[in-house]
Amino acid sequence: MKITGFSLPAAAAAVLAVALVAASSYAQAPPPAQGPAGAPPAPGHFKMPNPTNLQVLPKDMTGDQVMEIMHGWEAQLGGECSTCHAADPTRKMPNGKPALNFADDSKKEKKIARLMLHMTMDINKNYVSTIENSGQPVKCGTCHRGHVTPEPFVPKPDHDDHDHDDHDHPPAAAAHPGTR
Ligand code: HEC
Ligand code: HEC
Repeated sequence: MKITGFSLPAAAAAVLAVALVAASSYAQAPPPAQGPAGAPPAPGHFKMPNPTNLQVLPKDMTGDQVMEIMHGWEAQLGGECSTCHAADPTRKMPNGKPALNFADDSKKEKKIARLMLHMTMDINKNYVSTIENSGQPVKCGTCHRGHVTPEPFVPKPDHDDHDHDDHDHPPAAAAHPGTR
């Protein structure tokens, strides 16, 4: 199954993806085996083949550019490649583990990640960039904070107490009118 309905113009997607790459590369140390762009790969660095099934990221990205984004997602979600990518039962890695088929779309997490990428670019382009801001874009980690499923935000209990001391405590039902 393919997710359809992504109609972002390619040029806009390219600009945003570049912004995502730039943001992720200055926020974290580059992967150790990766040399500067265009330099011959460091010994032991497997050069990623160019992608064949990009639907949200610009289709002309090189394999190494895609890998840089993938390492960023892995860190921001606290996941692994296999969180989103399905195993290829026909191929094994030198260490005996099944190899992943990166172009395959069968895992639901991969489809969700495409939706999330689209959403994140939309938030930055149409919302965050329209306010005076610190220049910090919304990234996967803004919400995920190292968890594949974002943890619920629990306000500090002392703040809660403060509210209760200072104000009359409304009946529970009236305190959450939006939930009824
Ligand atoms: C949070 C989910 C997620 C994680 C984690 C993740 N990926 Fe991906 N990956 C995706 C999505 C989604 C795409 C497709 C993007 C698109 O359609 O524009 C993709 C695309 C790719 C592609 C391009 C495949 C092709 O031929 O089109 C490669 C290669 C890849 N990932 C490698 C990796 C590696 C290696 C890791 C671990 C370091 C990794 N990914 C971690 C979600 C993920
Ligand atoms: C605005 C906040 C926000 C941003 C930004 C965001 N996510 Fe999410 N993401 C969520 C929420 C909320 C869920 C659903 C959590 C749940 O099921 O409880 C979710 C779910 C997911 C899931 C499914 C997790 C699961 O439990 O199966 C994946 C995969 C994912 N996001 C990937 C990404 C990636 C990749 C990015 C960056 C391109 C991203 N998200 C950016 C809020 C966000």
